[in-house]
Amino acid sequence: MSTRPFWLAGTAATGDDEITVTHPYDGQVVGAVSVPTEAQIEEAVAAAHGVLDRAAALPAHVRAEALAHVSRRLAERTEEIARIITDESGKPVKWARGEVGRAVSVFRWAAEEARRDSGEMQRLDTDPAGTGRIAVIRRVPKGAVLGISPFNFPLNLVAHKVAPAVAVGAPIILKPAPATPMSALVLGEILAETDLPAGMFSVLPMPNERAASLITDERLPVISFTGGQFGWELQRRAPHKHVTLELGGNAAAVVLADADVEWAAERVALFGNNQAGQVCIGVQRVIVDDAVHEEFTARLVEKVEALATGDPRDEATDVGPLIDEAAAVRVTEWVEEAVSAGAELLAGGKRDGVTVAPTVLAAAPADSKVVREEVFGPVLVVQRVSGVDEAFAQVNNSDFGLQAGVFTRDLQTAFRAHRELDVGGVIIGDVPSFRADQMPYGGVKKSGVGKEGLRSAMADLTYERVMVVTGVPL
Ligand code: SIN
Repeated sequence: MSTRPFWLAGTAATGDDEITVTHPYDGQVVGAVSVPTEAQIEEAVAAAHGVLDRAAALPAHVRAEALAHVSRRLAERTEEIARIITDESGKPVKWARGEVGRAVSVFRWAAEEARRDSGEMQRLDTDPAGTGRIAVIRRVPKGAVLGISPFNFPLNLVAHKVAPAVAVGAPIILKPAPATPMSALVLGEILAETDLPAGMFSVLPMPNERAASLITDERLPVISFTGGQFGWELQRRAPHKHVTLELGGNAAAVVLADADVEWAAERVALFGNNQAGQVCIGVQRVIVDDAVHEEFTARLVEKVEALATGDPRDEATDVGPLIDEAAAVRVTEWVEEAVSAGAELLAGGKRDGVTVAPTVLAAAPADSKVVREEVFGPVLVVQRVSGVDEAFAQVNNSDFGLQAGVFTRDLQTAFRAHRELDVGGVIIGDVPSFRADQMPYGGVKKSGVGKEGLRSAMADLTYERVMVVTGVPL
């Protein structure tokens, strides 16, 4: 098996070390990737810094065509890339195909947005002092970007860093998760087929500790990070930088008295467990009204027990392994801890190596980790409430606030949820796990700061520069 090169300022390169990539399900070696030396990391940063002006001045059609090319090539290589995602992350192959499809649309959207963004013009003669003046407002990149992506979407969360950066003309250095670097390197390969200038992108796999110098390097004034609570430490280490953090949470699905119970049970069962629960907006807390509690819980348990666990390469597998055994051990320990403290185990609770059986708990104590922390595993915690007030208070009783789902058919309740829930996104009629890649995405509280989603991310990576023109006949 040959070692994959990394991408240094748009060119394939190898260093003096490598990372071996293993399949989470059976530990089989699935690849090896080269790791840059300190000197090569410096070369990548210097190249990104050096190309800043040229990148910002790239015509819209050049940026858009490069992005459209990536979208097309990802679509052409879907099956190959889906297999790579499954190999390195343990994601069931049917979900991996969906991930490639999403990345195709992220790059397609970015191409469209790159063409659409024309800045803004404001008339200033709204007061006497502005007579004869207009303001022309354009968005200018804040600088070169350091993108740090997690293991759970090894392609699409890389796409969410790279595509908006290219769309606004900002060079980017991407550090993929050490466990899942291969999909990002394939993306690098496709980016290298475009006419983007050298220095515009680098994809540098490395152990996390090696990234310390990148975090503090002043030539990378913008950091876009998706991952765990380490994000706050990263922000502390780089206080003068613009930092966007997408840090997950313990997302709630609310099932109210007027919900379609069958649909709610089906969606909660699926999206509490897809990718073995390793999704920042995967359902964790299920807040159910008294009126439908019994019926909903019975249907949920039935559907959760019907999910097939196993080898993620198998088309029939719904729930694969966690990323590593330590994660699986931690998740089962949290479940056992909740059960010892009085929670009722309705399904699952068992571990087989790296795989945790889809688990449903009820009546877990409010201070148990499965309620308060982010489980990031296939565990659903059903909480019984009485009425909308208590349900919404329960959603907000969390240190996190990324997205919430509310199963209701009532328009008033929907708008109330939108107003009252302390989260970045409220999904009516579905689970919190719904995400369309163009929509604003990002949380409040410990879930992070800043937004992804194409237009939001493009705004985040740029600042408004105003030009006032005087003496204009308006
Ligand atoms: C995440 O887990 O951070 C992203 C979820 C998604 O894009 O669906």
